[in-house]
Amino acid sequence: MKHIVNTQAEYNAAYQASLDDPEKFWRDFAEKEFTWHKKWDNVLNYTMSPEAGKLGVKWFEGAKLNITENCIDRHLEKRGEQTAIIFEANNPNEKPLHITYRELAKNVNKTANMLKANGAKKGDRICLYMPMTPELAYAVLACARIGAVHSVVFAGFSAKSLSDRIMDAKCNIVITADGGYRGSKITPLKDITDEALQSCDCVQKVIVLNRTNSKIPMVYGRDVWWQDEFAKASDVCPAEVMDAEDMLFILYTSGSTGKPKGMVHTCGGYMVYANYSFRNVFQYQEGDIYWCTADIGWITGHSYIVYGPLSAGATTVMFEGVPSYPDMGRFWEVVQKHKVNIFYTAPTAIRSLATCDMSLVTKHDLSSLKTLGTVGEPINLEAWEWYDEHIGKKNCPIVDTWWQTETGGIMISSLAGVTKDIPTYATLPLPGIQPCLMDENGVELPDGAQEGRLCIKHPWPSMARTIYGDHQRYADTYFSTFSGKYFTGDGAKRDAEGNYRITGRVDDIVIVSGHNLGTAEIENVINEHPNVAESAVVGYPHDVKGNSIYAYVTMKTQDGLTQDSEQVEKEIKNLVAKTLGPICKPEKIQFTSELPKTRSGKIMRRILRKVAADEFENLGDISTLLNPECVEEVVRGACSRG
Ligand code: PRX
Repeated sequence: MKHIVNTQAEYNAAYQASLDDPEKFWRDFAEKEFTWHKKWDNVLNYTMSPEAGKLGVKWFEGAKLNITENCIDRHLEKRGEQTAIIFEANNPNEKPLHITYRELAKNVNKTANMLKANGAKKGDRICLYMPMTPELAYAVLACARIGAVHSVVFAGFSAKSLSDRIMDAKCNIVITADGGYRGSKITPLKDITDEALQSCDCVQKVIVLNRTNSKIPMVYGRDVWWQDEFAKASDVCPAEVMDAEDMLFILYTSGSTGKPKGMVHTCGGYMVYANYSFRNVFQYQEGDIYWCTADIGWITGHSYIVYGPLSAGATTVMFEGVPSYPDMGRFWEVVQKHKVNIFYTAPTAIRSLATCDMSLVTKHDLSSLKTLGTVGEPINLEAWEWYDEHIGKKNCPIVDTWWQTETGGIMISSLAGVTKDIPTYATLPLPGIQPCLMDENGVELPDGAQEGRLCIKHPWPSMARTIYGDHQRYADTYFSTFSGKYFTGDGAKRDAEGNYRITGRVDDIVIVSGHNLGTAEIENVINEHPNVAESAVVGYPHDVKGNSIYAYVTMKTQDGLTQDSEQVEKEIKNLVAKTLGPICKPEKIQFTSELPKTRSGKIMRRILRKVAADEFENLGDISTLLNPECVEEVVRGACSRG
């Protein structure tokens, strides 16, 4: 049986083998494909109990490894001179870099020594708040090299989001840059970091990459320049030997309470699954140029720019810019320039590029492309067809990859050119992944065509092991809704052949332009506005972004407060943009004198979601509400708001 399958029959055989004996399946793959200092005592040890005290999953317990030896060192003999990373800068006139595996090794080692010289030790949490330059990849790998835990925070997040994440993980070092190029703008990363650090007392060192030559203040004794420290560091740094279950990284994702969840991934299982899923889904062949357009600030960048491709000895493109700069043809220009073979992006990017002048596509030679992929949210049929016709020229398989920050790697997807792709369906689980659908009463639906809540029945190597510092929340969020199963928070449909179509979140998370936003987090900020008594945030369908944010707000009516709703609306939008970042800004705000509530006082979001989506009929049973009369006002308000 082959683990990296190339035909439908091989897929079937691998899937069956993974069901028959999951431990053997993963043991054989792990044994064959990686460099270990010591093999495991146990392949899998787990209890998926809803009780936090019992819940735990361990893969390859007792094994010793370092993931960077698997991503770098072991390739040096055969592919030292092969390009590992192609760096395409924000500015198309800046010369791209082709970084070989040998150069990558040196740069990662230098970065690792630079970290050590600045006090980093095994087990420390290090926050990376950086632009998409090669130094971000070096920093990620350097942390892994010395056994420090990286926590990458997307460089579009605000000071408050950054400081929350730094404090939650108790990071002692932050790596940032003076600024980050984003299209025609520069994000003042160091200024934002300084603001964030005013409320963090755990940070001792800030390493600042000079990227934009911006004038920035340096704090004496705390701040050092990357370039100075890097120049001093030796390019030899032995890899720290890690336990398979040691933490590799923390990555924050939105939760349904206001506080983001620090998902913890560990060294061994994550490595095995990132490599396995990358090779199977994209069918990467020797010499292919692979480009994932995500930012390393998201899980997609962790698994499918850095760890998956590099562990497979691939050539991976890192793009610093945005799809719209200098014009909306940039992606296609980059595909042509680097002769990209495999292109992986988000539906929201496809939808926005599909609305542009077609000459921005047709003037570029896209004939190098052989596989396309999407990730992050459901792709609608129109966008899928546009991608297929205009980018793939009806000649490239499209892999619609369903997964999550929590899953670490792709769970449900067609395998390029191997299993069938079906528009708008993620299709089949990868061998080793056992999805199921549950009904609202917690009963597993039988095989065949069904619709329900998507769960995973059996552990897989790259599942998040806990929420940093809050194992109870991990148990409550993922294992208690459907006891003993991992609950994804997504709804899905399955056809008679077993293909899955993800229908979207069924909890209080809204996906806007591929970004997970927790509605509670946005509500908390809105509620800080002095005029606001209460608010409820929901998502509603948006043509390009997939979803957009709709906020229902009840104002205080006290004397002395302005009741100018236009003014308050503006202030609320600014407050959210400033506190959480512009992506979280509500697109629509509706003022209402009351919010519909259940008798226990819970806001009935089901109704608010329908109203926001203009589905005024079939609001469902409102008789159980504490205040059913307010629904009429909410509907009237939405209609007049337009
Ligand atoms: O709702 C699903 C949606 O994105 C959520 C996970 O978001 P995040 O942790 O930020 O990870 C995104 C990148 C892996 C899922 O719960 N989602 C992700 N991929 C798809 C998707 N929905 C439909 N189809 C997909 N291919």
